[in-house]
Amino acid sequence: MDYEGIGTEARERITAAQDLPAVEALRIALLGKAGSISALLKTLGGMSPEARASEGPRIHALREGVTAALTARKDALEGAALEQRLAAERIDLTLPAPLTPRGTVHPVSQVMDELAEIFADLGFAVASGPEIEDDWHNFTALNMPESHPARAMHDTFYLEGETDDHRALLLRTHTSPVQIRSMLADGAPLRIIAPGRVYRSDSDATHTPMFHQIEGLVIDKGIHLGHLKWTLETFLKAFFERDDIVLRLRPSYFPFTEPSVEIDTGYSWQDGRRVVGGSGDAPGHSWMELLGSGMINARVLAAGGLDPDQWQGFAFGVGVDRLAMLKYGMSDLRAFFDGDARWAAHYGFAALDVPTLSAGVGARP
Ligand code: PHE
Repeated sequence: MDYEGIGTEARERITAAQDLPAVEALRIALLGKAGSISALLKTLGGMSPEARASEGPRIHALREGVTAALTARKDALEGAALEQRLAAERIDLTLPAPLTPRGTVHPVSQVMDELAEIFADLGFAVASGPEIEDDWHNFTALNMPESHPARAMHDTFYLEGETDDHRALLLRTHTSPVQIRSMLADGAPLRIIAPGRVYRSDSDATHTPMFHQIEGLVIDKGIHLGHLKWTLETFLKAFFERDDIVLRLRPSYFPFTEPSVEIDTGYSWQDGRRVVGGSGDAPGHSWMELLGSGMINARVLAAGGLDPDQWQGFAFGVGVDRLAMLKYGMSDLRAFFDGDARWAAHYGFAALDVPTLSAGVGARP
């Protein structure tokens, strides 16, 4: 028998097989139960011992050669298929992301990011505190003892239960308790902002039961009202991206600041919306109340574990939603929290458009 000839022909057919099913078909035709090489092996049984001794090794060698050829061809075809898939599924990571992402950044998040960017440039760190507070941090430590009338003004949501040290639980009515938490945790000097959700039982076109504030707190030696005014002026100029922001400091009252200062800004009406800028005393302009602030009351410093004879500071609190409305021209606060996708698509910001001072903190693409 010309086993070598059979082997050569089999290997040629295997090499010519163009895909894995073709290789499998050849395996069955050659080595399967009814395969041609299997049939040759069966002839060994009917041979004389001498013939078997000489033919046996040749047939086995033929089968091994064919088996190896099949395996090699299969490996080659599988490798080629993988190469092809890798080439087809190639992703060019240097290409820009699609410009039509489905989600947008909510204006409140956008404004908080803008504020964090602006205040980071002034050396402020970002601090946070719990939304479920206790009445000591939210009121008492901020110089509002139990009978204080200011407590009633806050329309507080109280929760059932109390803390381990028997303090009443509530939803924080402002971000000011973060002042206390930061003083107690980090001591002085301090320079922080604390953005977050606050809650009051109040609801109309300009009030929602949940809204957002950002607290600012600076504690150091020799801090005075001039630092407060410069900081707020610098922040508002950066935020509204204009130099003609004029502030009016008006005496006010907060239990946790002394003196307390209400900050007004000049604005005018343009195309049916308020535009911040210019003096409120200029023709066509008025003043509007923008935020509360003041020098930190000595009792508050003491509650925060600091010596008021050594440290001074100022604090301010501002409504983030209101800042967003003023800057981006929305008129109804309630729409902020409706979750309407059309509103979000209209007023939202591109997810990859992170605010930076160099690019303009509020730049839209
Ligand atoms: N916490 C005050 C409010 O919610 C704002 C404020 C903060 C005033 C810090 C003075 C200093 O109205």
